[in-house]
Amino acid sequence: MGSEKEIYQKRFEKHLDELKWLYMELYDAPEMFDELCSTMEKVYCERNDSLKALDLEREADPEWFKGNDMLGMMIYTNLFGGTLKGVEGHLDYLQSCGVNYVHLMPLMESPKDRSDGGYAVADFRKVQPELGTVDDLEHLAHSCHKQGMSLCLDFVMNHTSEDHEWAKRARAGEKEYEDRYFFYDTWDIPEEYEKTVPQVFPTTAPGNFTWLEDCKKHVLTTFYPYQWDLDYRNPVVFNEMMYNFLFFANLGIDVIRIDAVPYIWKELGTSCRNLPQVHTIVRMMRMIGEIVCPGILLLGEVVMEPAKVAPYFGTVEKPECHMLYNVTTMATIWHTVAVQDIRLLRKQLDAVYCLPKTYTFLNYLRCHDDIGWGLDYDQLEGWDMMQVPHKKYLNDFYTGKVWESFSRGELYNDDPVTKDARFCGTTASMCGVEAALETEDKEAMEQALRLDLTLHAFMLQQAGIPVIYSGDEIGQLNDYSYKEEPAKAVDSRYVHRSSFRWELAGKAKEPDTIQGKIFKGLRQLETIRGTHESFTAQAHAETIGWDDDSVLGIMRTGGTERITGIYNFSRSEKTVSWIGGGKNLLTGEDGAPEGYVTLPAYGFIWLREEI
Ligand code: GLC
Repeated sequence: MGSEKEIYQKRFEKHLDELKWLYMELYDAPEMFDELCSTMEKVYCERNDSLKALDLEREADPEWFKGNDMLGMMIYTNLFGGTLKGVEGHLDYLQSCGVNYVHLMPLMESPKDRSDGGYAVADFRKVQPELGTVDDLEHLAHSCHKQGMSLCLDFVMNHTSEDHEWAKRARAGEKEYEDRYFFYDTWDIPEEYEKTVPQVFPTTAPGNFTWLEDCKKHVLTTFYPYQWDLDYRNPVVFNEMMYNFLFFANLGIDVIRIDAVPYIWKELGTSCRNLPQVHTIVRMMRMIGEIVCPGILLLGEVVMEPAKVAPYFGTVEKPECHMLYNVTTMATIWHTVAVQDIRLLRKQLDAVYCLPKTYTFLNYLRCHDDIGWGLDYDQLEGWDMMQVPHKKYLNDFYTGKVWESFSRGELYNDDPVTKDARFCGTTASMCGVEAALETEDKEAMEQALRLDLTLHAFMLQQAGIPVIYSGDEIGQLNDYSYKEEPAKAVDSRYVHRSSFRWELAGKAKEPDTIQGKIFKGLRQLETIRGTHESFTAQAHAETIGWDDDSVLGIMRTGGTERITGIYNFSRSEKTVSWIGGGKNLLTGEDGAPEGYVTLPAYGFIWLREEI
């Protein structure tokens, strides 16, 4: 191993040609490139010794984040621990959940009443004062590392808050800052954009532009009007944002979640999504990371149809993101629960299982956002499930409007024009726990809890990193109190963004409570996952089916074992043949002594065979 300088030089030289090539292709600005390079070196020199040691360790073991014992949790600092110090004080709880990867939701400075849950950043170098300080964040990252946990933080790079210094100066008429956003004096160009750019928040924030009355300009605001899109055609924007990214890295953040990444490049006449330049930028970020702080990972937030997602991994020679969300599988799981038909889910998984095993997906059931019904409608329409009525059915089902439904929740961005709406709610409420409590129906409660665990088991049987949304481990329900807060009332995503109920977490130790049943059930599944070779990323996975389209099997083969999960996605008991035998991993009993398996409504079984 060489000196620190040599280590840096080696990494730099490895990527220099490609980095320079891409940078020049995009910007043709040699001085700005030099500035980028010298700042990178400076940031490397400032990086502390323990992070540099971690970089070397991870460089030597590039698969460090791919173990089957990885378990993530998404947490809002204020809702879970009050402050960053509070979160640090609760790391023992996270450990008791088996969590070794913590995603802290956005926490950098953001205007209180115009924050989009923290996704409108006013200062990338300051923590929201009520949550603590940058030092607290650094301290927390350090404590996480000591306990073998990695920390993930959002890097909101598509836009800034209108309260960001750049935005304020742009608004005040400083040309240099106007050039960091998309500012227009007249409606001509915005009008052209509006012809091809779809809307993200059609009802809560219609249109893609906002008129600024004070300076008489239109500004591009893909999300909320107070989130101003940055113009990455300007190399200053790219450089400065890279410095912010490296600032996060030097605080000890392990995983950088690149928020809304498909949106970062805009081009008139296009949808302004997934443009080739986005990939150039992500590739450059990957190289910058590998040069300065190779221990960090890039997680792309690509909430797009399947064909658009995998390209964000890049290629073997030119990788982009280390990890992506398995968003289509997530939405398809919920579709399957509602329609009791596994065909689409099977097709989706067959496609995922064909992807290279080096791709790492984050699997999840719920997160802080709504569920968009981004399903494979070409296929569904072939089975007579037409897009508009099907979305309506799913929304009716999950809001509890149809008789067969047990779910509770709320619509999100219900667009009267496209008739499209998304859905919000917690896992437990969607599985029927809330409704069963309302009706005090014991049988319904049993089914709800079973479904909750079945879906988690299903998620845990997929390769990649399972991520639990904080509160789901104790079956937390929807919380409708956001409607009383004017700044939140229009945004139904807050129905599943409520304070962590510590008093309920206390009940997780009592086996007969809702919390105890979910918590204990999850821990058992997670422990099995973490200790069996069939759950590794290298294991071979395939789906299996029966005549009955409501039962799906997932078979994973690794080393000398095969683990088969059989999942009943219907509201009635099902029996399917199973001649494989094996042991029921949850009970230790013989799996199918009679040659078949009977599963209760929404039940599952994990069977292990020696091969
Ligand atoms: C991402 C976030 C979402 C936010 C949006 C705008 O999609 O997950 O919560 O509203 O970006 O930053």
